Formats: sequence, structure tokens, C-alpha cells
Amino acid sequence: MPNAVLAPVTPDSIAQAASLLQEGRLVAFPTETVYGLGANALDDKAVAAVFAAKGRPNFNPLIVHVHAASALDQLVVWNDTARLLAEHFWPGPLTLVLPRAPECSVSLLASAGLDTLAVRVPSHPVAQRLLAEACLPIAAPSANRSGSLSPTTPIHVAESLGDKVDMILAGGKCAVGVESTVLDLSGAMPTLLRPGAITREMLEPLIGKVATGLDSSEQPKSPGQLLSHYAPDLPLRMNAMAAEKDESYLTFGPDMGLHGGALRLNLSESGDLEEAAANLFAYLRQLDKPGLKGIAVAPIPETGLGIAINDRLRRAAAPRS
Ligand code: TXA
Ligand code: MG
Repeated sequence: MPNAVLAPVTPDSIAQAASLLQEGRLVAFPTETVYGLGANALDDKAVAAVFAAKGRPNFNPLIVHVHAASALDQLVVWNDTARLLAEHFWPGPLTLVLPRAPECSVSLLASAGLDTLAVRVPSHPVAQRLLAEACLPIAAPSANRSGSLSPTTPIHVAESLGDKVDMILAGGKCAVGVESTVLDLSGAMPTLLRPGAITREMLEPLIGKVATGLDSSEQPKSPGQLLSHYAPDLPLRMNAMAAEKDESYLTFGPDMGLHGGALRLNLSESGDLEEAAANLFAYLRQLDKPGLKGIAVAPIPETGLGIAINDRLRRAAAPRS
């Protein structure tokens, strides 16, 4: 039974959440992408508690969140590309991987032994107020059990981690709905480790060519690239032009010509990829019903946010290890 307090957002609940974080406790909070499971990034015990709560392998590093780029000066080594992108896209759904500064006080656990740190300034007003009040860097992975679907509502958090967090700040549905773009700026060439709402087409005019680390058959640089991530319980198949009668069916755009499905949901009837991304994880949860054989998903265009949507669907469709 979920027993964490689902706290409506008020000045008092934000103040309480900030003090809990300062005491080393865990607080789930909304960001514009998905809900995060926050902990004081300077506190080894608090960061260890995040890994334990999620059942997350400790080789998978965490993103550190701050209220403004200036709060990162002692934590990472800036470069010109990073500054430019921070000016353009922060606050917003972009995570930058940068070398840890020599004096960086963030728990080494958060970096999972790497000499880099992933950092981001979220734009959600509740995240902004919480980070400003806590006045700490906050390590926050998505607030779900490791390997399962990311939460886009406070109820999703309560269902999967309700007994593991001290407080859930209930700030409604997340507007973007897929996790932030992760861009590695610690090497010779900017490398996209996870596609998100800040697309390659938005990055390249500013910083030139962006490599993609996504298709690499080598050891993934970002453990979030591991296949079979973000998975529902039922098997999922993509590019389905029809569904069986014992499958649920996730469609996109006008339904003409798409047949079948015991249960159907449309990500966006008008074919809007932003609306589709915002609905993606909530709809996959609703279609993940015991008794059915699988989830069929109609084709999603591989452009703009469709690239991030298809990335998450491919991982959900991958064989489980
Ligand atoms: O939108 C988001 O990014 C959400 C919200 C809460 O901010 N957070 C999120 O965190 O999705 P998480 O832990 O679920 O995903 C973090 C991703 C993982 O794929 C991880 O491997 C990668 O970022 N990552 C973190 N630190 C890294 C590093 N130092 N080098 C490379 N990849 C890193
Ligand atoms: Mg995650």
C-alpha cells in the first residue's frame, strides 16, 4: 500500500519538502519531463537510499538538478558549448554531461564512479521553487522502480514507490512526458546519449555536428541506453497496422485503417507529437493489463519528439534480460 504523503503544492509543502531533502530524506517532485525522486546530492547516504528505493544498479549514474546554472560552478568544468546550450535551453529538458570539477562535492555514488556529472536545470515551477528553497544540488532519477515506465503523474509515483519516499509533491501531469535529452559534452564531440524534447535539429544549428551514441554496439556510455528499459509488463510490438483481439492497441493520429485491439488509446488524434509524448507513459500503463497478450503500437513518425517516443518504445519492446 502506498503510504507516502501525496502533498498538494503549497508554500508550506514546498518548505517541508526542502527541509526533508536537507535532512537526507527522499522527496518525489514534478519536473516538466517526468517526476523525479530527489535526494541531497552531497549526502552519500541519501544518494544510496535513492539507488535502494529504485532497485537501480549502482553503475547507472544520476542527474543532478539545480535551480540555476550558476549553482554548478563548483561542481562541473564548463566549456563554451555547455555555456551556450545552458543559455539557450535552461531552464528546460536538457541534461549536460560534463567533467566533474576537482573540488566537486557531489557524492561519487551519483556519478557511479565516472569522472563526469550529468546536470540539469528543470523549468517546472515547483521544481524551481523546491531547488531554490533546498539550496542544494538534488540528485533525481525518474521516480519509478528501475527498468519500468517513468511516472508522469503523482499517482504513478505513489503506485511504484509510495512506500519508499518520505513525500510526494503532487504537481499534476508533466507537460513533456518523456525524460530529458542527455548530451555528453565531456568528450571530443558532443554526443547524444538519450533523445528528448531538445532534439538534434535544435542543437546542431548552435553547436555543429552532434554524434549519436544510441546505435553503438559497444558498451553503452550511458546505462540508460541499455535495451529493455522503460518497459511495461506485457510484451510490446511496434509499427503495428492492426492489433489482435487479445492485444491492447496504442494508436497515433486519425484511426482510419487501424483495426482491432481489446482496449485502445490514441496518443494524439490530431497527430501532434508533443501531445503524444505527454500521454505516452500514462497510456502504456493503462494498456498494460493482466489477461492480455501484449501491447501493439501503431507507427509513430521518426521526426522531432517522435525520435524520443520511438526510442522509449524500442526499449519497451526489447527482450528482457
Ligand atoms: O527528465 C529527466 O532527465 C528526469 C527528471 C527527473 O529530471 N530524470 C531522469 O533520470 O530521467 P534517470 O536517472 O532516470 O536517467 C538519467 C540518465 C540515465 O540514462 C543515466 O545513465 C544518464 O542519464 N547519466 C547520468 N549521469 C551520467 C553520466 N555521468 N554519464 C553518462 N550518462 C549519465
Ligand atoms: Mg529513469
